[in-house]
Amino acid sequence: MTGAARRVLSILFADLVGFTELAERLDPEDVAAIQQEYFARAHEAIVRHRGNVEKYIGDAVVGSFGVPYAADDDAEQAVRAGLDIAAALEGVTESLQLPPGALQVRVGVNTGEVITTPLSGDAGEGSMATGDAVTTGYRITGDAVNVAARLQARARPGTVLVGPETALAVEPSMVIESAGTLSLKGKRAPVPVWHVVEPRAVPSREWALRALQSPTVGREEELGLLEQSWSLAATQPQTWLVTAPPGVGKTRLVTEFGTRVGWSGSRVWTATVTAGHGSGYDAVAQLIRSALGSLADAANAHGQLVARLARHGYDGPRARLSADHALALVNGRHLEAEPAVLHSSWVAVLDTCGDVLDVPGDADAGPGSDTQPPVWVIEDLHHAGDDLLAWLREALTWPHRRDRMVVVTTRPSLAGRAVAAMPGVCELQLTGLGDTEVVSLLDEMLGSAVLPSATSAGIAEASGGNPLFVEELLRSWTHTGVLQPHPGGGWRFTGTDAPGALPTTVQSVYLGQVDGLPDTPRQVLHSGSIPGRTFPARALPDLDVPGPDPALRMLTDWGLLVGPHAHRVDDTSYTYRHGLLREVAYATLPRLERARLHLRFARWVEALGSVHAADEVIGTHLESGVRQRPRSGAHPRRRHDQGSRGRGGRESSGERGRGAPGECSAACRAAARARSRTHPDHGTPGAVPPARPGRGAAPVRPVGGGDDHVRRRR
Ligand SMILES: Nc1ncnc2c1ncn2[C@@H]1O[C@H](COP(=O)(O)OP(=O)(O)OP(=O)(O)O)[C@@H](O)[C@H]1O
Ligand SMILES: [Mg+2]
Repeated sequence: MTGAARRVLSILFADLVGFTELAERLDPEDVAAIQQEYFARAHEAIVRHRGNVEKYIGDAVVGSFGVPYAADDDAEQAVRAGLDIAAALEGVTESLQLPPGALQVRVGVNTGEVITTPLSGDAGEGSMATGDAVTTGYRITGDAVNVAARLQARARPGTVLVGPETALAVEPSMVIESAGTLSLKGKRAPVPVWHVVEPRAVPSREWALRALQSPTVGREEELGLLEQSWSLAATQPQTWLVTAPPGVGKTRLVTEFGTRVGWSGSRVWTATVTAGHGSGYDAVAQLIRSALGSLADAANAHGQLVARLARHGYDGPRARLSADHALALVNGRHLEAEPAVLHSSWVAVLDTCGDVLDVPGDADAGPGSDTQPPVWVIEDLHHAGDDLLAWLREALTWPHRRDRMVVVTTRPSLAGRAVAAMPGVCELQLTGLGDTEVVSLLDEMLGSAVLPSATSAGIAEASGGNPLFVEELLRSWTHTGVLQPHPGGGWRFTGTDAPGALPTTVQSVYLGQVDGLPDTPRQVLHSGSIPGRTFPARALPDLDVPGPDPALRMLTDWGLLVGPHAHRVDDTSYTYRHGLLREVAYATLPRLERARLHLRFARWVEALGSVHAADEVIGTHLESGVRQRPRSGAHPRRRHDQGSRGRGGRESSGERGRGAPGECSAACRAAARARSRTHPDHGTPGAVPPARPGRGAAPVRPVGGGDDHVRRRR
């Protein structure tokens, strides 16, 4: 993250209750000791939950979560930090021998869109009262900051009060209770607020979705492909890598597949790689535990395992060592051996557990397991470190490997690319659901005819086929009351036709994806979003991305872009494989930046000369440029360079600020011309229309580029 950006952040405010009165009665030295202890504990809680301590105002501490890198669980971490601060205060009270309840804290957490502006050197004091916070590196500005401060002021002592977007985000992991609505100073409408009761013992997305659930919609082609591959696994090991950005349905696909092959009598062993917890081999431990079943905890586990390994030709010492290594990993015991030795021990144990030869008379094998080889499912490989990747490479290339199927899921990531390059790996790049499938999904979740057809169509369009988007949108509507359970069963919708803004829960998850990219690919995603879902690569240098080719190759290889392909104004055009990624990349650009880039793009098209329909593209981008300019007038007004719109014109200072009055009317005239001929686009009005990436599973074929979403390495 280099320049200013629009981002979804969670902001925490914590303030001591009644401290002023307490301070009046105490010696100044005691007051300083209390303050120091409180600040230290609050700081520790915020940092432990991956937040930044923004500033201290009097007795208040302000934290931010999600800058400079967003993560899926920023809101949850902010709330956990708040709960920890409240609990820590009890400890401070005790350690300073104050009367119980003498020190309490009120916490407010709010999530929303803000502008983050990097600061150089001097932090430039901002003020909470005007909605600014100052980090060590960023100024954070936005109404979401003010609301967090107000929530804090209204929280009951010792508790955490959260705003609507935070509530939506933390519902799967926290028990929350509606605390009604609050009229907050400076807010026109009352804000619904929630009181956090406690973290859920077991986080449950299903619980948060309640009745808004659907059987699997579509995916028959992809499931057919996996099932076909599985039918070959008895004679040749099969490995699949399923790649897609968040929420597209990787987990749903492999769960459905697991259910289907489970019905046919195969054993499905699953593991999920988690971010930053435990050892790098946690997923292997989960897999082995899953493979061993009840044997893992049996009193004679070691003996049984050694016997099983011996039946597969391992000599005594080697069998004992492998059994040791597997059981030590599963039981979290310390292991001292060369990684290569450990890796082969673990693979040997997994393969002997899954071998059909081993099944007769083996009580641990499970019913029906003698007919098919096992399936290993490894989810969320994007969190994997080098250790796990090295083990996986060993597993996939192990010379004695038995028949089995391995299915790995990943968001686009370096780890994913490393596995895609391993021998024998087929890659399935999962695309979004089609429009009619999204409408079916809505019907399954709500019942048919609950939403006006224009609303369903609008959701299909805005979601880019991402089921997570659909679920989060409906969930947010249940929070605002636009969607309500019908007393007689089913749902009642009282909203307008348009689906509205991107749910912040989806936006922050996608932000994390964009943040994780190196600088130039990230810049390509931002600048490429200006033309629309499809963009001409040759325009990129004019949109602030010089030398974009390596980045384009990387983004294509990762499955984020499709191309190069011929398109309206350029033979080397690229299309965002997932519309949501383009939406989020565009939404993250500050409006001033969008305006500047739209005008630059219009000029780039103009400089091309005789391209068909260039006029309408120019007109609509000029219009977008004017429309995106901030309304407040707070930005410096600069001289408009009238000559800048000539062919081949370079950037002018006029692009950066508010234009001269003449420009608006010129832009609007051009736009009006364009509108009479143009057609709607995803997102940006008048953008270069998108070439929708093809759907449907292509047959397995060698890697070779194009738009295939199935690839195999040999
Ligand atoms: N084909 C489908 N039909 C119905 N619901 C679906 C379908 N695909 C996904 N969903 C639902 O959409 C949500 C997101 O899907 P899922 O968790 O599978 O995404 P993912 O690609 O695994 O995301 P992540 O990268 O975050 O793990 C889930 O609640 C899931 O049940
Ligand atoms: Mg998943």
